[in-house]
Parts: sequence; structure tokens; C-alpha cells
Amino acid sequence: MAETPHDPDAPFEPDAPFEIFVATAPGLEAALRAEMRAAGFPKTLQQPGGVAFTGRWPDVWRANLVLRGANRVLARIGSFRAMHLAQLDKRARRFPWADVLRPDVALRVEVTSRRSKVYHQRAAAQRVEGALRDGLGARIDPEADLRLMLRIDDDLCTFSIDTSGAPLHKRGHKEAVGKAPLRETLAALFLRQCGHDGSGPLLDPMCGSGTFLLEGADMAAGLAPGRTRRFAFEHLVGFDPAAWAAMRAAPAATPPATPMAFGYDRDAGAVAMARANADCAGLSRWISVAERPIGALVPPEGTPPGLVIVNPPYGARIGEPGPLRALHATLGARLRAGFAGWRVGLVTPDPQLAHATGLPFLPPGPPVPHGGIKVKLYRTDPLPG
Ligand SMILES: C[S@@+](CC[C@H](N)C(=O)[O-])C[C@H]1O[C@@H](n2cnc3c(N)ncnc32)[C@H](O)[C@@H]1O
Repeated sequence: MAETPHDPDAPFEPDAPFEIFVATAPGLEAALRAEMRAAGFPKTLQQPGGVAFTGRWPDVWRANLVLRGANRVLARIGSFRAMHLAQLDKRARRFPWADVLRPDVALRVEVTSRRSKVYHQRAAAQRVEGALRDGLGARIDPEADLRLMLRIDDDLCTFSIDTSGAPLHKRGHKEAVGKAPLRETLAALFLRQCGHDGSGPLLDPMCGSGTFLLEGADMAAGLAPGRTRRFAFEHLVGFDPAAWAAMRAAPAATPPATPMAFGYDRDAGAVAMARANADCAGLSRWISVAERPIGALVPPEGTPPGLVIVNPPYGARIGEPGPLRALHATLGARLRAGFAGWRVGLVTPDPQLAHATGLPFLPPGPPVPHGGIKVKLYRTDPLPG
């Protein structure tokens, strides 16, 4: 793999380690880095929008397979300087594409340019597409699943391949989606930020389609989030199906014998959806869902204290008083009355709604973009008796 910055005259070393960038939602970089450390990716560097590390192709496969908080994994396959389009064209034609890309797999090229003499993104893309067509025999298709990204920054051209394909929050085993589902990657990192590692019980009293339950049960059962889906890296040179199959089949932790993730919702449709999703993901053994309004919230029977995590509904207009505030006040009252020893995590865009619970929240986490708004995680220590 080419070093960064890439010297176009240097010999190419396909087996050398290269830079891998794991993208996540802004605000969650530190949480992703902590997850990566726990998953055995030791030397990582936090950057805006993600975490970088140096590795080889099996590290790329494993990052895609096991990291719950990753949106996508980019392989930085090399870079060179280009001061004008003709130079970009010439160097792109000398780039060793065949070490990474297959001529029989269509791909699309995306270019971004900042502070650079080559500023015309479409013209730059055309040069790279020409080099790929003529040098590699590749088919360029704007609809292709495989994506080659060129970032031109201060005249440095860096090529990355999106090795994930469909974004990683699409786990590949969720059937039904509710009205305002939380993205799986966010749910997983919020759980981690609440100190949840799957070993204790989890309760979502407004579970909707069950995103927190699915992520929590996955963690409890030691299952990899990418176990059922396909990835773009399967279509690259150097992909080893046997080694990948062995990695995917690696033994999980010993799964618990009883349900570990409990969900309630007042809406029968949401309950049915969460159950269908648990079934589809092969997690029914560890997830228990029931129809129940917040006003009747009690801890699951026979369960030691664990984590209550909830993403209540919120209004379009932040700070709007009324039924939502009353709902949050009821939630807080039920938790304060019956959940001694449980920790609480609440995800909301509205600080006034968080405070309407009357719960002793620690300072909130950073704002995280989600569906056109910014949400924050509010956490408590174990609630007093
Ligand atoms: C924002 S959604 C939760 C989405 C969920 N985290 C997911 O990923 O699908 C809020 C949920 O709260 C439920 N809900 C609203 N009011 C409730 C109440 N009083 N008691 C119980 N559930 C309630 C709604 O039915 C809805 O499913």
C-alpha cells in the first residue's frame, strides 16, 4: 500500500500497513476511540469525524465487522501532490490501482477539493475516471456500490476506498423501523457512554422499534454487529474469503441464559415491531418486550439494578411546554420512586425536557447530529434509594 504522502516514483508495497479511518457521528469520536481500544485496536488517533489507525486489510475487515459505533471504514490507499489537472491526470495514470481494485467491479469516483489549485471537482473526477478506465479497464458507474474517494487538500490528493458500502448502522438484520428510530451506531455508543457492556440488565421504557434493546442484546450475547451483512471490501483485490469466513465465525462470549434487555412501549404496534426485529436478528432469547405506558413503569421482576436508557418523543419546537413535559415528569417520578440503584441515560435534543424529569443528571454529553437535529445524552449515577 502506498505511503502518505505518496511518492509516485517509489516502489509500491501492497503488503505494507496503511492508514485506516473509521468515521462516526461528530461528537462521538472519543466514544468510538474508547470502543476501538476495548476491541483491540491499540494505536488510534482521534480526528474530527472519526478515528484513524494504521493497519492491514484484515484490520479493515475486523473494524467493519465488530465496531458498533462506526459509520464507515475508509482505506487510505495512497496520495500524491498535484498542482494542476494535467499533473493529476499523469500521476493518476501511474497509480497502482490494480493492487487494490478489480477491473470487473464497477466503481464510482467522488472528489472534494479545498484550498487547492485543482478546484474543479468534476474535472478532477473525470481525470481519475479516465486513468481507471484506460489503466485498469475499470467500468465507471455513478450508481456503483463501490466508491473511490479523492480528497484534494492543500494540493495533496488522497485516495480512499469506502470499504463498508452501505453505512454500518444498517446492520442487515432489522426488519421494521418505527417513526423516529435512533440510529444503531448512536444507540451503541450512548450505551457505552452509560458504562453498559452487555453484562448487566438494560431497560428501555419507550422502546419503539427496539434499537437500544437490539444493540444491548447483541452486546450481551457477544455477537458482532456486521455478522449478517455484506461489505464493499469483499469486492477488492486481496480479499480472502476463507480468512474472512474464519474471522466472522470467531467464537463469541458465553451468551446469558435469560433475557437481558427489557422494552416497554404504550403502542401495540411498536411492541410488535420490536419483537419482530428481535426475532429477525436472532435475539428473541435475550429480549423481552411488553405493552406498558410510562405511568405504570416498574423494574422488570427478579432483575438486579442495571441501566434504564430512553429516547422519549420530542416536539418539533424545542422547549415547547405541554404534554411532553408532563410525560418527562412522569418518567422521572416513576424512576425516582422505584429504581434505586439503576443508572439512567436519556437522549433528547431539549434540555428543558431532560430537566422536567427531576433526575440528578451529570453534565450532558456533546451535541450529536441525528435526523436534522442535535441530541445529547443525559446520564445519572445509580439512583439513590
Ligand atoms: C422516539 S420514539 C423511540 C424510538 C426508539 N428509540 C427506536 O429506536 O425505535 C418514542 C417512543 O415512545 C413511545 N411512547 C410515547 N409516549 C409513551 C408513554 N406514555 N408510555 C410509553 N411509551 C410511550 C412511543 O410509542 C414511541 O415508540
